Amino acid sequence: MDHSATTPVAAEVLQAMLPYLSDRFGNASSLHGFGREAKEALEESREKVAKLLGAGPEEIIFTSGGTESDNLALKGIVRRNRRQGNHIITTKIEHPAILETCRALEKEGFSVTYLPVTEEGLVDIAALEAAIRPETILISVMHANNEVGTIEPIEEIGRLAAEKDIYLHTDAVQSVGKIATKVDSLGVDLLSLSAHKIYGPKGVGALYVRKGSKLESIVQGGGHERGLRSGTENVAGIAGLAKAAELCEQNMAEEGERLSRLSERLAALVIGRVKDAWINGTMKRRLPGSLNFGFSYVEGESLLLYLDSKGIAVSTGSACSSHKLEPSHVLLSLGLPPVNCHGSLRITMGRSNTEEDVDYVGECIVEAVERFRGISALGRE
Ligand SMILES: Cc1ncc(COP(=O)(O)O)c(C=O)c1O
Repeated sequence: MDHSATTPVAAEVLQAMLPYLSDRFGNASSLHGFGREAKEALEESREKVAKLLGAGPEEIIFTSGGTESDNLALKGIVRRNRRQGNHIITTKIEHPAILETCRALEKEGFSVTYLPVTEEGLVDIAALEAAIRPETILISVMHANNEVGTIEPIEEIGRLAAEKDIYLHTDAVQSVGKIATKVDSLGVDLLSLSAHKIYGPKGVGALYVRKGSKLESIVQGGGHERGLRSGTENVAGIAGLAKAAELCEQNMAEEGERLSRLSERLAALVIGRVKDAWINGTMKRRLPGSLNFGFSYVEGESLLLYLDSKGIAVSTGSACSSHKLEPSHVLLSLGLPPVNCHGSLRITMGRSNTEEDVDYVGECIVEAVERFRGISALGRE
C-alpha cells in the first residue's frame, strides 16, 4: 500500500537485466564485441523508453533516477539560458528534488516564484500566468503529486509556456507508467522519470529533453549521453527501466481502471465508517490507486506503526520526509491547519493489491483510528 515510495522489481524486468549483470558485461563505449553488445542494449532501451513518452530516442538521457533528472533539467536549462533571463516558476508542492534544487539556484542568483495551489491541490493557471515575467526562462510543475496523487493541468500550462516561449519541465516520476505521459500532448520540453516507481530497479531514470532545447551538463566527464550526463552507463539498470516501461504501456488502461476501483472502494469504506475523516486533494484528477486520508484527533505516525504491525505498509507525509516531524509542506499548501496535517495517511496501491487487501486494510484503518482516538484526550471530547 506504499507503491509511491517504491515498487518491487517485476519478474520480467529482472530477467531483462540479468544478462547485463553476467555474460554481457561490456562497457557501451568499447569498440569490441562486448562493448557493441552493451551499446545495442542501451539503444534498444532508449527506443522503448522513448516510445512510452511518444518521443524520439535521441531525446532520452539516462540518469541515476528522478532526483538527478530533476537536477539536470533545472540546473541544465537555467545555467545555459542565463542570458535570456534569471527567473524560474515552480510550485510549493513539488518534491524536494525540485524545491531544494531551486533553493540552490537562488544562491547562484536565480529568482524563483513558488506558486501556491488551490485547496484541491491544483495549480491555478491565472496565478501562473500572472507570475510570468519577461525574464522567466523555465517553468517546472510536477505532473502528479507524490503525497496526494493529484494530477496537475500540464497540458494547459504547456500551451501557455509555448505561447510565451518559456521552457516547461515536468517531474513525472509519479505519473509515468500510470497515466498517459506523451510529451507532445503534455506540451513539455523536459520530463523526469524514475525506474523504481514503475517496477524497475532503483538508481536509474531518464530525462526527456525535447530536440533543440539548450541545456548544459551537471556531471562532467567522458561525454556520455550526448555530453549531457557523463559516466559509464548502467546497462543492466537501463535494460530494466526499458522493460518496466514496456510492461506499463501494455497494461496501463486496464490496470488504471482496476486501481481506481480499488481506491474508490477503500475511500468509501473508510469515509463511511470513520467520523471526522476526509480525503486530501481532489478526487477528480487523481492517480489511479492513490489516496491521502486525513483524520482529526490522531497522529499519522501512530496509525502507520499500528498498520505496520498488521503487515500493512503505508506512509504519512511523503516517504522521503516521513522521518521529519514537521507537517507536510504539501498538505500545508493545500490550506490544511498544521494539526490536521499530522493525521494524514497516504495509501498508494499497485499491481499485487486485490479487493481482499483493500477490505483488510480498510478494517485495520477503522480499528486503528478508533483505538488511537480512544486514548487521545482530544478524541474523547
Ligand atoms: C515526484 C517525485 N520526484 C522525484 C522523486 C525522486 O526520484 P528518485 O527516488 O528516483 O530519485 C520522487 C521519489 O519519491 C518523487 O515522488
